[in-house]
Amino acid sequence: MKIQSATQSELFDLTGKRALVTGGTRGIGMMIARGLLRAGARVVISARNADACAQAQEELSEYGDVWAIPADLSRPDECARLADLVTADSGTLDVLVNNAGAMWDEPLETFPVAAWDTVVDLNLKSPFWLVQALLPALRTAGTADDPARVVNIGSIAAIHIPARPNYSYSSSKAALHQLTRVLAKELGPQHITVNAVAPGPFPSTMMASTLDEFGDAIAASAPLRRIGRDDDMAGVAVFLASRAGAYLTGTVIPVDGGIATTA
Ligand SMILES: NC(=O)c1ccc[n+]([C@@H]2O[C@H](COP(=O)([O-])OP(=O)(O)OC[C@H]3O[C@@H](n4cnc5c(N)ncnc54)[C@H](OP(=O)(O)O)[C@@H]3O)[C@@H](O)[C@H]2O)c1
Repeated sequence: MKIQSATQSELFDLTGKRALVTGGTRGIGMMIARGLLRAGARVVISARNADACAQAQEELSEYGDVWAIPADLSRPDECARLADLVTADSGTLDVLVNNAGAMWDEPLETFPVAAWDTVVDLNLKSPFWLVQALLPALRTAGTADDPARVVNIGSIAAIHIPARPNYSYSSSKAALHQLTRVLAKELGPQHITVNAVAPGPFPSTMMASTLDEFGDAIAASAPLRRIGRDDDMAGVAVFLASRAGAYLTGTVIPVDGGIATTA
């Protein structure tokens, strides 16, 4: 049987798709939520701060159908509650973007126990809990020709050795990259792809102090001579969520201007 090729616009069109972007109230999550909305998807964003959720929902509603749900996703019960709310009406979810993340910088000598628990709970366990809770909805949405998509936001901190003393952060992201491959193998036959994006430096609250201090130097030493922009992150997310990205699974895609890929 010959499968009809998509037209140029169909290749990246997300009309009718339902997506969840965790940590979508600012930074990289908002870049991704905006990109998915502009491609036609209905998007739910989630973060802890209820005021920030309301504000982001208002800001993003200019681009399409968006709903913000406050939740603390470092807790498994909150991941389950969010999954129930997101799937209550249709029972399906086409795209899950596990973006919410935390970083902790502190010298080796004083690096505390809490810096492991806080970071690993959110960066590694939470994507797992959300996949677990949303599996029935992802299975319902995915087909052999158009699988459901899980996109985990990792980091180049797990590809090269980061300059900052963020031991639990880089370790949690390396584990998330591996979890991506493990889940990709298991869920591929169930019509669900699992890929990771490993961003380089993008402007955000998490990166604000680093970029204030070292932004110019980081840009100058990057092969592409700049830090990341909104379109760079929106572009890779739309690609992975759309028909264009249907045949990738188990990949970790660095979006870093060549910083880690050429190190
Ligand atoms: N920016 C970069 O250069 C860069 C580079 C590599 C990787 N990344 C990764 O990209 C992702 C986004 O980072 P970012 O730089 O955009 O960070 P950010 O500006 O700090 O945004 C983090 C988002 O996650 C939410 N969040 C934090 N803790 C949460 C929790 N317990 N439950 C639910 N939501 C929570 C935040 O909202 P609340 O605080 O209201 O909960 C916010 O919406 C992270 O996974 C990060 O590791 C970023």
